[in-house]
Amino acid sequence: LFIGTEGAEARRWKRRGGGGTTTPPPAVTPKALPIPALIKPIDRNGVKHFDLNVNKAQHEFFDGILTNTFSISSTYLGPTLLLTNGDNVSLNYTNNLSEEVTMHGHGMHVPANMDGTPHQTIAIGETWSAQYTVNQNACTNWYHPHTHHKTPHHVYQGLAGMIIIEDDESRALDLPNRYGIDDIPVVLQDRFFTADKTALDYSPTQMQISRGYIGDVFITNGAIEPTFEAEAKEIRFRLLNGSNSSVYDLGFSNGKSFKQIGGDNSLLEAPVSMTRLVLSPGERAEIVVDLSNDSGASFTLHEYKNNKTFMTVNVSKNATAVTSLPNTLAELDPIDLSLVTNTRKFNLGMQNMVFTINGKAMDMKRIDEVVPLGDTEIWEVTNMMGMDHNFHIHATHFRVIERNGSAANVLENEKGYKDVVYLKGKESVKLLVKMTDYADATVPYMYHCHFLEHENNAMMGQFTVV
Ligand code: C2O
Ligand code: CU
Ligand code: CU
Repeated sequence: LFIGTEGAEARRWKRRGGGGTTTPPPAVTPKALPIPALIKPIDRNGVKHFDLNVNKAQHEFFDGILTNTFSISSTYLGPTLLLTNGDNVSLNYTNNLSEEVTMHGHGMHVPANMDGTPHQTIAIGETWSAQYTVNQNACTNWYHPHTHHKTPHHVYQGLAGMIIIEDDESRALDLPNRYGIDDIPVVLQDRFFTADKTALDYSPTQMQISRGYIGDVFITNGAIEPTFEAEAKEIRFRLLNGSNSSVYDLGFSNGKSFKQIGGDNSLLEAPVSMTRLVLSPGERAEIVVDLSNDSGASFTLHEYKNNKTFMTVNVSKNATAVTSLPNTLAELDPIDLSLVTNTRKFNLGMQNMVFTINGKAMDMKRIDEVVPLGDTEIWEVTNMMGMDHNFHIHATHFRVIERNGSAANVLENEKGYKDVVYLKGKESVKLLVKMTDYADATVPYMYHCHFLEHENNAMMGQFTVV
């Protein structure tokens, strides 16, 4: 594998007229797919403590070259947290960087002061603890910084990790759940590197802020085109689009079909059979692919929009256990519009080169919406622009009940509980939002576009729950 670069280094090189060095880019020997460590909590008085160190680090992406990164108790990304509904937890983040950071639990239903937004800054050298009782059904969430004006920079350097939540219902299902064996976390990202590969190159132009800062190196759990040696059985992949602003159109290179079993914030009611899966930034999808009859096969997880490979799957091992995907998965709350007490509109647009929601740029001192505790509401989100956006709401989940004016347009695989919804140019969605159980009149939650360059350029608003 030889990997080039089209980031700022390459742009400078082109501006200089190219030439100079003719050294080919460094090689990449494919690694085994890294599996983030499953961190063991320490029990203190019935509270599970997870100690997480936010560090500067160095990580080997290219053979023999160390790249400067940020990471959480690792060299790139962070460990996976496995939580059970009802657990009392304390996520203790210590900031060993030389700048402020925050750490947000994306998809977590927690009190506003535990949400890790720009309002819960972790000063240099300090520890901040997100303490709460896990209060939601099984799903795949993640944690990442939400630092004021720094979120895309911090995520780009490697700050992100997975949170897996299980509950009694999910445990009772015959799903692959052996972490790292048949239940595989897969963090999908793309990056630019500097020419010498010793740093991640975060330097978007104005055009890239608008259209997406899509790197030329695609990485999976922090490795370039790694290889996963699979057992010949059902394998569950927990896919996270952990990129800054790339929409991924995923499929297997051999056209193999798979079943999506979970969306952002829950399992689906029933598996959805598919061959391609579109994930926008921040979205998660749990899929199960049945490799029982594929011994010896080798294929890739491909990204069709940019024509890139994320990883190779070799079916090289015998099954050490058998699972059989059930026909029904989660029981979700029925969609009951008679509960709706309010409708709010969110228009995604742009004014004077700044992204806006309802004509307003993000202001940390302004509360945009005040929502009554426990309310069920309809939030209508409209992409006024020609370019792609998505919409993420903190603290709770929603159902997509209409897309472009019709319930029939809602995709089968977006019918679970979600917390990010993708809107192509000029699209609109109607969301049924069940507000969180935690009131706090002073500390707001966020809603925003999860294309991080857009979020960072003011496409974000704040709401309190009272
Ligand atoms: Cu994934 Cu406001 O965040
Ligand atoms: Cu979030
Ligand atoms: Cu956007």
